[in-house]
Amino acid sequence: MQLTKEAQAMLDGTQGRATQKAMEILATLGAIYGAERLIPVTSVQVAGVSYANLGEAGLAFLSEMAEGGGRARVLTTLNPAGMDIENWKNLGIEADFAENQRRVLEAYERMNIIAAATCTPYLIGNTPHFGEHIAWAESSAVCYANSVLGARSNREGGPSALAASLTGLTPEYGYHLDAYRQPTLGIHVESGLGENADFGAFGKVLGERLEKSGGRRVPYIQGIASASVENLKSLCASLATYGGVTLFHIAGITPEASRFVPPDEQMVIEEEDIQKARESMSDADSTEIDFVSLGCPHLSIKEIARIAELLEGKQVVKEFWITTARPTKAIADRMGYTAVIEAAGARFAADTCCVVAPIAGRFRALATDSAKACYYASAKNKFKTALLPFDEAVRQALG
Ligand code: F3S
Repeated sequence: MQLTKEAQAMLDGTQGRATQKAMEILATLGAIYGAERLIPVTSVQVAGVSYANLGEAGLAFLSEMAEGGGRARVLTTLNPAGMDIENWKNLGIEADFAENQRRVLEAYERMNIIAAATCTPYLIGNTPHFGEHIAWAESSAVCYANSVLGARSNREGGPSALAASLTGLTPEYGYHLDAYRQPTLGIHVESGLGENADFGAFGKVLGERLEKSGGRRVPYIQGIASASVENLKSLCASLATYGGVTLFHIAGITPEASRFVPPDEQMVIEEEDIQKARESMSDADSTEIDFVSLGCPHLSIKEIARIAELLEGKQVVKEFWITTARPTKAIADRMGYTAVIEAAGARFAADTCCVVAPIAGRFRALATDSAKACYYASAKNKFKTALLPFDEAVRQALG
């Protein structure tokens, strides 16, 4: 890979040990993927934040990078942490875990990385525009940035995203290149998708079929009349989870779709397929549900306003988590939504989510509107699940 003088100097260690290590990571990645050069990025999203996933080894790596002088060169935000940074006690998080999680966040902050821990950075100001090259690591957000915003990112791992932040560079390969953005398979949806849960169930069907067919697949989807930001974030999370999808196009909705004609190879997905997917994610009946969580990916302010409307003057009878980015919660505080939601007995879990928080064994069955949350609740935490429309999930918490 061709290195500029500046990049070579970083690799030679003239800008400190952490920058050198970051450049070593990028040079290795570039060589593996056959990149010809490094290109500047304008935005980074780092994953590997929950202490539950990082452990001591991960924390030691971050501390070493911070002590070695690593400093973010471009706007960088974090993926969700293992706890609400302010409200962890109320959510039943152990003090030892909280202390270790605090050390992780401190290491990132020392590197000038903004400790806004969210999987929807695009809702809180880390919002790249069309064509921008970025290096993001959260799979649902990468899919959103590529598909909905038209920015360009590979699905980075935690270390390579951090390396991009500390150098402002990434190897040019994969989804940074025009050739990789070309659709490879046409999809026709024959179902009226409306709820986040519908988009999530559709994402599961499509993701699993793409996974089975193997190779890199960029679907070009037709038959979706409209989709909100919230629907699309749900679809991105589901497609990334069930099919490892990094980019899709939807005719009439996503910004690059008009650059392409639908591929000759076509696949039809019918309402019956989507209904089967809904059922496959709903093995819990309502009497078993003891946990409701909304916000996978993290809730928008519009969704929080809706929860407040539904909970006004009522009391929840089940544990109910509202997971969102702290800046979004600050708007909810200001608008009085937080007061209404907390008066009803539901809890905000900002900075974290029901997947990265250490809650295995605490609940029997989860109700949610997120296909991605269903996957991890079952696979990681061994909960039963119920995939429900948004309003119905809120009503579940009311008993
Ligand atoms: Fe975000 Fe956690 Fe879901 S990181 S996409 S809320 S699993």
